[in-house]
Amino acid sequence: MEKQALKYFLFTTIFLSQMASAQWVRDTEVTSSRENIYALPEAQWKDTVMAGRKHALFYPVTVTGLLIPYGPMKTFFNSAENDPVRALLFRLAQVVTPFKSMAEVFGWLGLHNYPEVDDERNPNPFPALSAKEKELPMGATLLQSHGKPGMTFSCATCHSADLFGVKVLGLTNRFPRANDFFHEGSRVAPYINSFLFKDLLKSSEEDRLMFIDSKEAIRYVGTKPPVALGLDTSLAQVAMSLSRRAQDAYSTRTPDSYKHPRPNKLEKMVADSKPAVWWNLKYKNRWLSDGSIVSGNPVHTNFLWNEIGRGTDLKSLEKWLLDNDSKIRELTAAVFASKPPRYEKFFGVNALDIDKAKRGQKHFQQACARCHGTYTKGWELPEAGTLPDEELIQNAGFTYHKKTPVRDVGTDPGRYLGMREFADALNSLQISKSIGTVVEPQKGYVPPPLDGIWARWPYFHNNSVPNLCALLTKASQRPANYWAGKAANKETDFDQDCVGYPLNEKTPVAWKKNKDLFYDTTKEGMHNTGHDEGIFLKDGIELFSVSEKSELIEFLKTL
Ligand code: HEC
Ligand code: HEC
Repeated sequence: MEKQALKYFLFTTIFLSQMASAQWVRDTEVTSSRENIYALPEAQWKDTVMAGRKHALFYPVTVTGLLIPYGPMKTFFNSAENDPVRALLFRLAQVVTPFKSMAEVFGWLGLHNYPEVDDERNPNPFPALSAKEKELPMGATLLQSHGKPGMTFSCATCHSADLFGVKVLGLTNRFPRANDFFHEGSRVAPYINSFLFKDLLKSSEEDRLMFIDSKEAIRYVGTKPPVALGLDTSLAQVAMSLSRRAQDAYSTRTPDSYKHPRPNKLEKMVADSKPAVWWNLKYKNRWLSDGSIVSGNPVHTNFLWNEIGRGTDLKSLEKWLLDNDSKIRELTAAVFASKPPRYEKFFGVNALDIDKAKRGQKHFQQACARCHGTYTKGWELPEAGTLPDEELIQNAGFTYHKKTPVRDVGTDPGRYLGMREFADALNSLQISKSIGTVVEPQKGYVPPPLDGIWARWPYFHNNSVPNLCALLTKASQRPANYWAGKAANKETDFDQDCVGYPLNEKTPVAWKKNKDLFYDTTKEGMHNTGHDEGIFLKDGIELFSVSEKSELIEFLKTL
């Protein structure tokens, strides 16, 4: 037995230390674009990326702690509304849920259906999927447990969006509900007895066992709804979940640990942020909005965080990571190869004024490039004279920092301060050490590369600025609140001049009927301060005229 353990230990240490390989070592400078992160031959790279996109859509971690028995869930939603069993379940669960069907649940969760046929505007085309795979919306995943399907959520739940009908993998989901879902689940699960569950929903013993596993796992999940729809509390969820586990190298799940969770400031303080876009990864050597992950493959780290937030046993996770290195590589390759959607594909080349954008580029170089990097445009190429407009507006090159910077420009501090509340707990995990993850709290945020910035509204890590006009306005004069809404109609749901949400009288009336869509910057963690003085203000005086700002925005549309 001991020998076996030793063998496993050696295997784990050696193998995992290889997994924490060269490109993820702290401070490794980024000297070239790492779109093809493993430098694979072209054909193999394409296949690997496609395989990776599939893992992004369908969550691959089979040892995940929380699965919702799918059969019983279907029975439940297919039962008639006046079914006494259903009524009883609702009462038991103490939920006043407005949902009448699975489709409504998925809609509430902010998930999108797969397109019938992939759109040529999609920068990250989908892998081939069977009709069965497309049955549930993007992000919802069925995994087998006790021989039955259980439902969970993949990376695409938070990292994909419906952009005017195009389903873009790697773009921020503007309206994710993953945290609310876990929050509701952890509130309700303890009240449902597994035998009652089995009887009422006419489910199998296997479903009951799956339900028991999930009920156990959710004891170790600390949850919190976001302060505004569109933001995410994963940071707090990881911190609060860790505080419900024992303080040992594997953060063991013990009855004592969940009964007496250690207090954590993130229960109260707001450190919410929007899911980040994936196409910036290739430029960076530290991760997250505050650059606080300074070492390790960010995809590895994401699995770890996701699983801590799902109450998973970390020894099982460590084994899964070991056994599934190829899946992690595929997903990593896909994330690094992500591309942003292009403005002209949605609005046409003629919607861009190239001369105006060229003037905007000068302002960008003057006021923005030192933080956000320098773009070379097609129009700067020696052969520009012979190129069509489509080519002129492309990015021909981009120079970003070799070491990803973090700058405090006065934006809301909540998110970066939050990292202090659990960095130590995370770093001391054996699994963090094995995969080479190191977290260091920072002061400020990474000035992100601005590729595809037109599609990334609302702006800043906390969504506090509705469009680029507002971003280029003195903080004290930015809108104190705004209404958000889906990107369904290009004409009404998007302001093409200001790039982002239409404000005031331009706001679609329907948006104002849903209070969940209201963003109030006066609340904690939601402030819209900063990123003005020293950037486009000097001693409170604007650097640019109204028309110069408009030129700058024209340039930003082309990135
Ligand atoms: C519940 C929502 C959610 C899910 C699910 C999720 N993420 Fe994220 N992800 C986020 C949020 C929020 C951030 C930004 C956090 C921050 O830095 O403030 C983020 C950031 C990231 C980053 C860092 C980006 C950067 O620029 O540094 C990567 C990489 C990433 N996620 C990959 C993944 C992968 C891979 C998965 C699936 C294994 C995944 N995420 C699942 C919400 C999610
Ligand atoms: C001193 C460094 C610095 C300069 C100069 C600077 N920025 Fe930023 N910028 C940042 C930081 C840091 C953030 C992230 C702030 C946050 O999310 O809280 C940011 C965020 C942004 C965002 C939002 C990104 C997103 O994904 O939401 C945009 C757009 C932006 N900057 C545009 C500009 C423009 C245009 C200029 C020039 C007028 C400029 N910035 C100059 C540091 C800088």
